Amino acid sequence: MRTVIIDTDPGTDDALALMMALNSADMLIEGITTVGGNATLSDSTYNTLGLLEHLDGKQSVIPVAVGADRPLRGSFTNAYHVHGSGGLGVRLPAPTLEPHGMSAAEFICDRAAGSADRLTVIALGPLTNIAAALDSCPDLVDALAEIVVMGGAFDVPGNVTPHAEFNIHEDPWAANAVFASGAPVTVVGLDVTHRTSMHRRDGPEWFEGASNSAVLGNRILADRFRACDDLQEFYLQDPQAVAAAIAPDVLTCRPARVSVLTDGDERGRTLPEYGGGSVNVAVDVDADRAVRLVRSLISNS
Ligand code: RIB
Ligand code: CA
Repeated sequence: MRTVIIDTDPGTDDALALMMALNSADMLIEGITTVGGNATLSDSTYNTLGLLEHLDGKQSVIPVAVGADRPLRGSFTNAYHVHGSGGLGVRLPAPTLEPHGMSAAEFICDRAAGSADRLTVIALGPLTNIAAALDSCPDLVDALAEIVVMGGAFDVPGNVTPHAEFNIHEDPWAANAVFASGAPVTVVGLDVTHRTSMHRRDGPEWFEGASNSAVLGNRILADRFRACDDLQEFYLQDPQAVAAAIAPDVLTCRPARVSVLTDGDERGRTLPEYGGGSVNVAVDVDADRAVRLVRSLISNS
């Protein structure tokens, strides 16, 4: 059993990742923190509360703490063209759940310090909240079991520019701070996430059964394929980060020091220096097993 805090910017693939975590018997969710990125912080938080209420019920006791509405410098660019209106494409009923009183960074520090077992942070959006938490409580580096990051493009092109993946590009300064912190980081980049996807041809029942997660997961995918005529594969980016937290051996990783370019055309480019360091870079994935895990956790549960 892994106790986790999920930092997220839902976002359609974030939604699938949250479904997996909520349905997994191997994961205890200590809390969810929201960040801008795919959507504005307001939409990201609305979607997180709405997803939690829809999937875990109106009585859900999982805290949602609100984080950064902008990166350490500048502003988020958002990706509504990818994820659809409101950041999810589909509209959930307005949530009645309310956010926690602490900020995301305060919440991460508070729960990490007070946890009997070492928490894992699963970062599915720009790393702004994680960098803020590391900056405000230096003991966090030793208090965490792991930070699993969906982000980066190490030996493949980026998805925002030829050099950079979205989460890192949105806040390269925060990414540098997290990768340089010395905390144990596993970074799940496009090198592996682009090898796991749901194909248009396999719908409309990508997920089996009538559970809330299966039905909503199918609605989200159907909406994306309907909205984007040229989309043939929905990449399981954030879901693969959750899969890696549940079954770490699904990935093959290499230890490295990772730096991030912050300016110019190559802003957000992740540069690994293999051979040692606190960052485990995912260089291979058992793609069939990862997709099976995504499907099984969202179907029927
Ligand atoms: O590049 C993909 C990542 O950026 C995913 O986390 C997606 O949700 C967006 O946040
Ligand atoms: Ca995300």
